[in-house]
Amino acid sequence: MKPKIYVTRQVPKAGLSMLREACKIEMWEEELPVPRDILLKKMHEMEGLCSLITERVDDELLDAAPRLKVVSNMAVGYDNVDVAACTARGIPVGNTPGVLTDATADLTFSLLMAAARRIPEAVDYVRDGKWHTWDPLGLLGAEVWGATLGIVGLGRIGQAVARRGRGFDMHILYSDTIRRSELEAELGVEYVGFEQLLSRSDFVSLHCPLLPETRHLMNEETLKKMKTTAILINAARGPVVDTDALVDALRQGWIAAAALDVTNPEPLPAQHSLVDLPNCIVVPHIGSATVVARSRMSVRAAENLLAGLRGQKLPYCVNPQVYE
Ligand code: GLV
Repeated sequence: MKPKIYVTRQVPKAGLSMLREACKIEMWEEELPVPRDILLKKMHEMEGLCSLITERVDDELLDAAPRLKVVSNMAVGYDNVDVAACTARGIPVGNTPGVLTDATADLTFSLLMAAARRIPEAVDYVRDGKWHTWDPLGLLGAEVWGATLGIVGLGRIGQAVARRGRGFDMHILYSDTIRRSELEAELGVEYVGFEQLLSRSDFVSLHCPLLPETRHLMNEETLKKMKTTAILINAARGPVVDTDALVDALRQGWIAAAALDVTNPEPLPAQHSLVDLPNCIVVPHIGSATVVARSRMSVRAAENLLAGLRGQKLPYCVNPQVYE
Protein backbone atom coordinates (compact mmCIF):
# COMPACT_ATOMS: atom_id res chain seq x y z
CA MET A 1 0.00 0.00 0.00
CA LYS A 2 1.39 3.39 -1.00
CA PRO A 3 1.36 6.00 1.79
CA LYS A 4 -1.25 8.74 1.48
CA ILE A 5 -0.06 12.31 1.18
CA TYR A 6 -1.74 15.67 0.71
CA VAL A 7 -0.33 18.27 -1.66
CA THR A 8 -1.96 21.64 -1.02
CA ARG A 9 -1.75 23.04 -4.60
CA GLN A 10 -0.60 22.06 -8.05
CA VAL A 11 3.21 22.07 -7.99
CA PRO A 12 5.71 21.65 -10.86
CA LYS A 13 5.75 18.28 -12.59
CA ALA A 14 9.32 17.39 -11.68
CA GLY A 15 8.55 16.98 -7.98
CA LEU A 16 4.98 15.84 -8.44
CA SER A 17 5.97 12.86 -10.59
CA MET A 18 8.48 11.73 -7.94
CA LEU A 19 5.68 11.82 -5.38
CA ARG A 20 3.19 10.07 -7.65
CA GLU A 21 5.52 7.12 -8.10
CA ALA A 22 5.81 6.45 -4.39
CA CYS A 23 2.59 7.78 -2.87
CA LYS A 24 -1.15 7.96 -3.18
CA ILE A 25 -1.61 11.69 -3.71
CA GLU A 26 -4.53 13.93 -2.98
CA MET A 27 -3.98 17.40 -4.31
CA TRP A 28 -5.91 20.67 -4.12
CA GLU A 29 -6.13 21.64 -7.78
CA GLU A 30 -7.83 25.05 -7.52
CA GLU A 31 -6.08 28.34 -8.09
CA LEU A 32 -6.70 29.66 -4.57
CA PRO A 33 -5.43 27.89 -1.43
CA VAL A 34 -7.29 24.94 0.02
CA PRO A 35 -9.94 26.09 2.54
CA ARG A 36 -8.84 25.38 6.09
CA ASP A 37 -11.80 23.12 6.95
CA ILE A 38 -11.16 20.90 3.94
CA LEU A 39 -7.46 20.66 4.72
CA LEU A 40 -8.17 19.74 8.35
CA LYS A 41 -10.61 17.02 7.29
CA LYS A 42 -8.18 15.59 4.75
CA MET A 43 -5.32 15.44 7.23
CA HIS A 44 -7.00 12.65 9.19
CA GLU A 45 -5.65 9.95 6.91
CA MET A 46 -2.48 11.58 5.60
CA GLU A 47 1.05 10.39 6.37
CA GLY A 48 2.73 13.24 4.54
CA LEU A 49 1.92 16.89 3.87
CA CYS A 50 3.45 18.97 1.10
CA SER A 51 2.52 22.51 2.15
CA LEU A 52 3.10 25.99 0.79
CA ILE A 53 3.56 29.31 2.57
CA THR A 54 -0.19 29.84 2.21
CA GLU A 55 -0.99 27.08 4.74
CA ARG A 56 -0.72 27.40 8.46
CA VAL A 57 0.75 24.24 9.94
CA ASP A 58 -0.02 24.53 13.63
CA ASP A 59 -1.30 22.56 16.62
CA GLU A 60 -4.83 22.49 15.23
CA LEU A 61 -3.67 20.93 11.98
CA LEU A 62 -1.31 18.51 13.70
CA ASP A 63 -4.11 17.44 16.07
CA ALA A 64 -6.20 16.65 12.99
CA ALA A 65 -3.38 14.52 11.52
CA PRO A 66 -2.78 11.51 13.78
CA ARG A 67 -0.84 9.57 11.10
CA LEU A 68 1.38 12.44 9.95
CA LYS A 69 5.08 11.55 9.61
CA VAL A 70 6.48 14.55 7.74
CA VAL A 71 5.77 18.15 6.75
CA SER A 72 7.52 19.26 3.58
CA ASN A 73 7.12 22.99 2.99
CA MET A 74 7.84 23.96 -0.60
CA ALA A 75 9.64 27.22 0.31
CA VAL A 76 12.83 28.28 1.97
CA GLY A 77 10.96 30.34 4.58
CA TYR A 78 8.86 28.40 7.07
CA ASP A 79 7.23 31.04 9.28
CA ASN A 80 3.89 29.46 8.29
CA VAL A 81 4.90 26.31 10.19
CA ASP A 82 4.85 26.03 13.97
CA VAL A 83 8.14 24.15 14.02
CA ALA A 84 8.14 23.74 17.80
CA ALA A 85 4.73 22.06 17.62
CA CYS A 86 6.01 19.66 14.95
CA THR A 87 9.16 18.94 16.95
CA ALA A 88 7.12 18.24 20.07
CA ARG A 89 5.33 15.51 18.08
CA GLY A 90 8.55 14.17 16.55
CA ILE A 91 7.52 15.32 13.06
CA PRO A 92 10.39 16.52 10.86
CA VAL A 93 9.85 19.67 8.78
CA GLY A 94 11.57 20.16 5.45
CA ASN A 95 12.25 23.31 3.44
CA THR A 96 13.89 24.04 0.08
CA PRO A 97 17.00 26.20 0.54
CA GLY A 98 19.65 26.81 -2.10
CA VAL A 99 17.63 26.31 -5.27
CA LEU A 100 15.86 29.69 -5.19
CA THR A 101 18.73 31.85 -3.96
CA ASP A 102 19.73 33.33 -7.31
CA ALA A 103 16.19 33.70 -8.60
CA THR A 104 15.28 35.68 -5.48
CA ALA A 105 18.45 37.77 -5.64
CA ASP A 106 17.74 38.54 -9.31
CA LEU A 107 14.22 39.68 -8.42
CA THR A 108 15.56 41.79 -5.56
CA PHE A 109 17.95 43.52 -7.91
CA SER A 110 15.21 44.00 -10.50
CA LEU A 111 13.11 45.74 -7.85
CA LEU A 112 16.06 47.85 -6.75
CA MET A 113 16.75 49.03 -10.28
CA ALA A 114 13.10 49.47 -11.19
CA ALA A 115 12.56 51.69 -8.14
CA ALA A 116 15.80 53.63 -8.66
CA ARG A 117 14.99 54.39 -12.29
CA ARG A 118 11.21 54.66 -11.81
CA ILE A 119 10.51 52.06 -14.48
CA PRO A 120 6.81 51.42 -13.69
CA GLU A 121 6.12 55.19 -13.73
CA ALA A 122 7.97 55.48 -17.03
CA VAL A 123 5.98 52.62 -18.56
CA ASP A 124 2.71 54.26 -17.44
CA TYR A 125 3.91 57.58 -18.85
CA VAL A 126 4.21 56.06 -22.31
CA ARG A 127 0.97 54.07 -21.97
CA ASP A 128 -0.90 57.20 -20.88
CA GLY A 129 0.21 59.09 -24.00
CA LYS A 130 2.35 61.58 -22.04
CA TRP A 131 5.55 61.09 -24.05
CA HIS A 132 5.62 64.29 -26.09
CA THR A 133 9.31 65.14 -26.01
CA TRP A 134 12.69 64.29 -24.45
CA ASP A 135 12.46 66.01 -21.11
CA PRO A 136 15.66 67.14 -19.37
CA LEU A 137 13.86 67.17 -16.02
CA GLY A 138 11.49 64.26 -16.56
CA LEU A 139 11.44 61.01 -14.57
CA LEU A 140 14.77 61.61 -12.88
CA GLY A 141 15.80 58.73 -10.67
CA ALA A 142 18.67 57.59 -8.46
CA GLU A 143 22.09 56.29 -9.52
CA VAL A 144 22.64 52.62 -8.78
CA TRP A 145 26.22 52.45 -9.96
CA GLY A 146 28.56 53.29 -7.07
CA ALA A 147 25.74 53.83 -4.54
CA THR A 148 25.71 52.35 -1.03
CA LEU A 149 23.68 49.18 -0.56
CA GLY A 150 22.71 48.04 2.93
CA ILE A 151 21.89 44.36 3.25
CA VAL A 152 19.96 43.33 6.35
CA GLY A 153 20.75 39.63 6.88
CA LEU A 154 23.74 38.15 5.09
CA GLY A 155 22.33 34.66 4.56
CA ARG A 156 22.31 32.89 1.19
CA ILE A 157 20.06 35.43 -0.52
CA GLY A 158 21.72 38.43 1.13
CA GLN A 159 25.10 37.17 -0.10
CA ALA A 160 23.77 36.67 -3.63
CA VAL A 161 22.42 40.24 -3.60
CA ALA A 162 25.84 41.47 -2.42
CA ARG A 163 27.48 39.76 -5.42
CA ARG A 164 25.09 41.54 -7.75
CA GLY A 165 25.78 44.83 -5.97
CA ARG A 166 29.51 44.37 -6.50
CA GLY A 167 28.86 44.06 -10.21
CA PHE A 168 27.45 47.58 -10.02
CA ASP A 169 30.45 48.85 -8.07
CA MET A 170 28.27 49.48 -5.03
CA HIS A 171 29.66 50.02 -1.58
CA ILE A 172 28.06 47.23 0.42
CA LEU A 173 27.20 47.34 4.10
CA TYR A 174 25.58 44.51 6.00
CA SER A 175 24.09 43.97 9.41
CA ASP A 176 23.25 40.63 10.93
CA THR A 177 22.81 38.99 14.31
CA ILE A 178 26.25 37.45 13.82
CA ARG A 179 29.23 38.94 12.06
CA ARG A 180 30.24 36.91 8.96
CA SER A 181 33.93 37.85 8.93
CA GLU A 182 34.82 34.89 6.71
CA LEU A 183 32.67 36.36 3.91
CA GLU A 184 33.72 39.98 4.17
CA ALA A 185 36.80 39.90 1.93
CA GLU A 186 35.25 37.56 -0.64
CA LEU A 187 32.07 39.65 -0.98
CA GLY A 188 33.68 43.01 -0.32
CA VAL A 189 31.13 43.86 2.36
CA GLU A 190 31.47 45.99 5.48
CA TYR A 191 29.88 44.93 8.77
CA VAL A 192 28.00 47.73 10.52
CA GLY A 193 25.35 48.08 13.21
CA PHE A 194 21.74 48.22 11.99
CA GLU A 195 21.39 51.95 12.75
CA GLN A 196 24.53 52.80 10.85
CA LEU A 197 23.33 50.72 7.93
CA LEU A 198 20.08 52.67 7.88
CA SER A 199 21.73 56.08 8.04
CA ARG A 200 24.43 55.38 5.43
CA SER A 201 22.61 53.34 2.77
CA ASP A 202 21.10 54.60 -0.48
CA PHE A 203 19.30 51.25 -0.79
CA VAL A 204 18.25 49.09 2.16
CA SER A 205 17.44 45.52 1.16
CA LEU A 206 15.83 43.14 3.68
CA HIS A 207 16.92 39.49 3.72
CA CYS A 208 16.24 38.33 7.26
CA PRO A 209 13.77 35.59 8.22
CA LEU A 210 10.50 36.56 9.89
CA LEU A 211 10.99 35.96 13.60
CA PRO A 212 9.48 37.63 16.66
CA GLU A 213 12.64 39.81 16.75
CA THR A 214 12.36 40.89 13.10
CA ARG A 215 8.60 41.60 13.01
CA HIS A 216 8.25 45.35 12.27
CA LEU A 217 12.02 45.76 12.15
CA MET A 218 11.21 48.62 9.79
CA ASN A 219 8.87 50.87 11.75
CA GLU A 220 8.37 54.60 12.20
CA GLU A 221 11.58 54.97 14.19
CA THR A 222 13.81 52.91 11.87
CA LEU A 223 12.30 54.27 8.64
CA LYS A 224 13.05 57.78 9.91
CA LYS A 225 16.69 56.77 10.35
CA MET A 226 17.02 56.12 6.60
CA LYS A 227 18.12 58.88 4.22
CA THR A 228 15.23 60.83 2.72
CA THR A 229 16.65 59.88 -0.69
CA ALA A 230 16.90 56.16 0.15
CA ILE A 231 14.92 53.25 -1.27
CA LEU A 232 13.68 50.26 0.74
CA ILE A 233 13.47 46.82 -0.88
CA ASN A 234 11.68 43.92 0.78
CA ALA A 235 11.90 40.44 -0.73
CA ALA A 236 11.95 38.71 2.67
CA ARG A 237 8.60 38.61 4.49
CA GLY A 238 5.90 41.28 4.63
CA PRO A 239 5.60 41.63 8.42
CA VAL A 240 9.29 42.60 8.68
CA VAL A 241 7.94 46.03 7.69
CA ASP A 242 5.21 47.91 9.57
CA THR A 243 2.87 48.63 6.65
CA ASP A 244 1.19 51.70 8.16
CA ALA A 245 4.55 53.27 8.98
CA LEU A 246 5.75 52.57 5.44
CA VAL A 247 2.69 54.29 3.95
CA ASP A 248 3.46 57.35 6.11
CA ALA A 249 7.13 57.19 5.13
CA LEU A 250 6.30 57.18 1.42
CA ARG A 251 3.61 59.86 1.71
CA GLN A 252 5.59 62.18 3.93
CA GLY A 253 8.96 61.73 2.27
CA TRP A 254 10.87 60.07 5.14
CA ILE A 255 12.27 57.88 2.34
CA ALA A 256 12.16 58.24 -1.44
CA ALA A 257 10.60 54.95 -2.51
CA ALA A 258 9.97 51.30 -1.73
CA ALA A 259 9.88 48.14 -3.81
CA LEU A 260 8.13 45.16 -2.30
CA ASP A 261 7.87 41.53 -3.31
CA VAL A 262 6.21 40.73 -0.01
CA THR A 263 3.61 42.68 1.95
CA ASN A 264 1.48 42.56 5.06
CA PRO A 265 -1.28 41.65 4.44
CA GLU A 266 -0.61 39.26 1.62
CA PRO A 267 -2.17 39.30 -0.90
CA LEU A 268 -2.37 43.09 -0.83
CA PRO A 269 -5.80 44.36 -2.00
CA ALA A 270 -5.63 46.37 -5.23
CA GLN A 271 -7.21 49.33 -3.39
CA HIS A 272 -4.43 49.45 -0.77
CA SER A 273 -2.54 52.76 -0.41
CA LEU A 274 0.77 51.05 -1.18
CA VAL A 275 -0.56 50.06 -4.61
CA ASP A 276 -1.66 53.62 -5.31
CA LEU A 277 1.51 55.43 -4.30
CA PRO A 278 3.65 56.40 -7.31
CA ASN A 279 6.84 55.86 -5.27
CA CYS A 280 6.00 52.27 -4.34
CA ILE A 281 6.36 49.17 -6.50
CA VAL A 282 4.51 46.05 -5.42
CA VAL A 283 4.84 42.65 -7.08
CA PRO A 284 2.99 39.54 -5.89
CA HIS A 285 5.62 37.50 -3.99
CA ILE A 286 7.43 36.23 -7.10
CA GLY A 287 10.99 36.01 -5.74
CA SER A 288 11.37 32.33 -6.63
CA ALA A 289 9.04 32.44 -9.63
CA THR A 290 11.28 31.17 -12.39
CA VAL A 291 10.55 27.92 -14.23
CA VAL A 292 13.86 26.44 -13.09
CA ALA A 293 13.72 27.54 -9.45
CA ARG A 294 10.14 26.38 -8.90
CA SER A 295 10.88 23.07 -10.56
CA ARG A 296 13.92 22.53 -8.34
CA MET A 297 11.92 23.53 -5.28
CA SER A 298 9.35 20.87 -6.12
CA VAL A 299 12.10 18.25 -6.41
CA ARG A 300 13.64 19.29 -3.10
CA ALA A 301 10.21 19.22 -1.45
CA ALA A 302 9.57 15.74 -2.89
CA GLU A 303 12.96 14.49 -1.65
CA ASN A 304 12.18 15.73 1.86
CA LEU A 305 8.71 14.24 1.84
CA LEU A 306 9.81 10.84 0.56
CA ALA A 307 12.68 10.64 3.07
CA GLY A 308 10.25 11.47 5.89
CA LEU A 309 7.81 8.76 4.83
CA ARG A 310 10.64 6.20 4.80
CA GLY A 311 11.75 7.27 8.26
CA GLN A 312 15.01 8.63 6.84
CA LYS A 313 16.59 11.94 7.73
CA LEU A 314 15.23 14.76 5.56
CA PRO A 315 17.95 16.16 3.27
CA TYR A 316 16.82 19.70 4.24
CA CYS A 317 15.39 19.63 7.72
CA VAL A 318 14.63 22.73 9.78
CA ASN A 319 14.17 20.84 13.08
CA PRO A 320 16.99 18.25 13.21
CA GLN A 321 16.31 18.01 16.96
CA VAL A 322 13.65 15.42 16.06
CA TYR A 323 16.50 12.99 15.34
CA GLU A 324 18.25 13.48 18.72
C1 GLV B 1 9.23 32.04 -0.57
O1 GLV B 1 8.91 33.08 -0.07
C2 GLV B 1 10.06 31.10 0.09
O2 GLV B 1 10.29 31.23 1.31
O3 GLV B 1 10.50 30.15 -0.56
